[in-house]
Amino acid sequence: MTAADERRRRMRPFGPGGFDRAAARDLPPGPSWPALAQTVALLRFRHQFVPALHKRYGDVFTVRLMPDGQPLVLFTRPEHAKEIFAGDPEVFHACKGNAILGPIMGEHSLLLQDGAEHNRARRLLMPAFHGAALRGYESVVTRLARQEVARWRPGVPFRSLDRMRALTLEVVLRVVFGVSDESHLARLRPLVARTVDVSPLVLIGWGIPVLRRLGPWKAAVDDQRALDAVLYAEIAERRAAADLHVRPDVLSRLICGPDDQALSDQELRDQLVTLLLAGHETTATALSWSLYELARDPVQLRSARAAAAEDDRDHLEAVLKESMRLHPVIPMVVRHLMRPATIGGVDLPAGANVGPSILLIHARDDLHRDPGSFRPQRFLDGEVATNTWIPFGGGVRRCIGAGFSLMEGVAVLREVLLRFDLALPPGPADHPRVRNITSVPRHGARIVVQPVAGP
Ligand code: HEM
Repeated sequence: MTAADERRRRMRPFGPGGFDRAAARDLPPGPSWPALAQTVALLRFRHQFVPALHKRYGDVFTVRLMPDGQPLVLFTRPEHAKEIFAGDPEVFHACKGNAILGPIMGEHSLLLQDGAEHNRARRLLMPAFHGAALRGYESVVTRLARQEVARWRPGVPFRSLDRMRALTLEVVLRVVFGVSDESHLARLRPLVARTVDVSPLVLIGWGIPVLRRLGPWKAAVDDQRALDAVLYAEIAERRAAADLHVRPDVLSRLICGPDDQALSDQELRDQLVTLLLAGHETTATALSWSLYELARDPVQLRSARAAAAEDDRDHLEAVLKESMRLHPVIPMVVRHLMRPATIGGVDLPAGANVGPSILLIHARDDLHRDPGSFRPQRFLDGEVATNTWIPFGGGVRRCIGAGFSLMEGVAVLREVLLRFDLALPPGPADHPRVRNITSVPRHGARIVVQPVAGP
């Protein structure tokens, strides 16, 4: 078997023959429904299904997934999350769970690698997501946020999720891709917007050659070709840019990495698309929940506005963190066991999938006082213990964009709060809806704004 065959085998989502059926019989309890019903319940109704399983089966339970009943064991205690995050990366693989994104992100994507390959890619990407680099991006994010909120119309209710999606997309184009030329941006915007909107159905059928010549699959393949052409042209232009070494965007930083480990054009393309898909909707969702929670709580809004006026970043960051605790954007992270392992005293066979339930860990009342309330102060008072707040996952796979999204979120909240008072328009309360792997506000986190007097 070639290395490429081996990689394809590993990436097959819930592929056949991947687990030891005899050993899988002794796993923690869980529903005995057919795998199809459990898969649909987990993917479409996770906000009802997963809490119900916790109530019924306790802190560790098993769901069985399509196509062949492969087990996914979910853990809800922080010490178990810690064990999973600290697990040997050669045993606790992650790429299989992301395999569905393979056709679009490309084989070099950080999300689709494990072991040594993942380690290398991570080391090359990391410097573009740390301290000084993050500070370098902030002024562009602030300018884009200022331009966005300047367009908001006072007194007219709107879906903050839509506005945050538009803004975070612009941030990706300018700060991650580093594109500033208006004609390039005009070409990229629709292509990138269509790429992030590709449906799971299209992704599932992408690998089937006959489908790639039909309807939505053909359109997606054509879009991808067009996007790739623009990205490769952008990469070539950037490599030749005289000011490459002083440009503050992520792509330029990646090109300027160590000479002996330079990323190829294809690697750069795959990582750019990965950063786009991983970083855009997630941050937009966290921001829209933050605006929604502030709009419905005048006391929290007042203190957040005071924090914006004083440039109290810790407080604004606490607002974001609390909204991600209350409304986790990604409900769980999954690892695929390459060898048998023991977690929380439970022996698990090779081939099982395991993961901490972010949703349940964030909602436990033995870990978070009054977990259903929106109280950013808990992050400022040091109430939130390690591994009880895990919206970015953990261990060697912890979200590489965590610092980036907090920097971006703080800058955006500050610009909104310096300019506007927020309120909820009449209408139903919002609640989470499943959208691909993320959970977004069902009604788009509608808000209404009024200008505040003076700066
Ligand atoms: C609120 C915003 C965000 C949330 C909630 C979020 C959440 C996550 C989670 C849960 C993971 C999986 C971690 C694990 O398996 O343990 C992840 C991975 C990742 N995220 Fe984020 N993310 C956010 C923003 C971003 C941004 C802004 C970027 C980049 C610009 C980004 C890039 C990535 C990448 C590349 C990975 C894969 C890391 C790896 O496998 O080594 N994310 N993210």
